[in-house]
Amino acid sequence: MRLMKFEKYTKKLKKKDLESLIDIIKQENNESILANLSKSNISKFINQVIISSELNLFVIKKNKIIGYAVVAKKPHFLISNFENLKYYFLIDLVTNLKFITLFNIFLTKVNIDDLFINKKNKILISKSHNLNLLAIEKNHQSKGIGKRFLNYIMKKIKKDAQMITCETNNLRSNLFYKNKLNFRNIGIRIRLPNIMKIMIKKL
Ligand SMILES: CC(C)(COP(=O)(O)OP(=O)(O)OC[C@H]1O[C@@H](n2cnc3c(N)ncnc32)[C@H](O)[C@@H]1OP(=O)(O)O)[C@@H](O)C(=O)NCCC(=O)NCCS
Repeated sequence: MRLMKFEKYTKKLKKKDLESLIDIIKQENNESILANLSKSNISKFINQVIISSELNLFVIKKNKIIGYAVVAKKPHFLISNFENLKYYFLIDLVTNLKFITLFNIFLTKVNIDDLFINKKNKILISKSHNLNLLAIEKNHQSKGIGKRFLNYIMKKIKKDAQMITCETNNLRSNLFYKNKLNFRNIGIRIRLPNIMKIMIKKL
């Protein structure tokens, strides 16, 4: 059996790795804004994450990439790092009629999505690291890899982070963070088609 390796990615992905990663994003994070973009724009997003000092790409490699995570040192870096790309992304979503995704972006822009988060928690979230995206390839799920991967990531970022937050859109992933990694719920974010639960953990 091929050895499994967790790593923080800092160099450009090879074509084969990029393709495996895009497949996982499209299949496992299909409600995310990213998954609704074209392959060429997903590649632009990934390359920006790799070159940014404020965003990190972590991957799990076996004979190919079987899992990944994107972590932002602060949530607002997920906006500021894509200023130059935002029109590519918007045109892509409009031309491909991704109205639900566009509506979710609108909710964020007008600050309606955070209506049910209290002021103290909003400040806490804004200062914390944010696990923005995470997925393990279907065939490798429920084998303890996700838990080990997140423990690896949290150990890596601990030296310059105190708290980490994430969002879940279904009960099963919420239970993953709660039961396996001791995250706790601190609010909800309004999104379509599902309400997101915001979770936090002290590092
Ligand atoms: C959530 C996820 C990252 C967990 O990784 P994993 O390697 O499967 O996790 P572990 O084996 O360490 O722990 C298993 C737990 O993860 C959760 N889980 C497993 N498969 C899942 C899936 N398809 N969707 C959501 N949660 C899942 C369950 O809580 C599971 O516990 P159970 O086996 O007792 O039901 C992974 O299952 C996944 O990529 N799911 C789809 C994408 C997703 O939900 N990403 C998180 C976005 S918030």
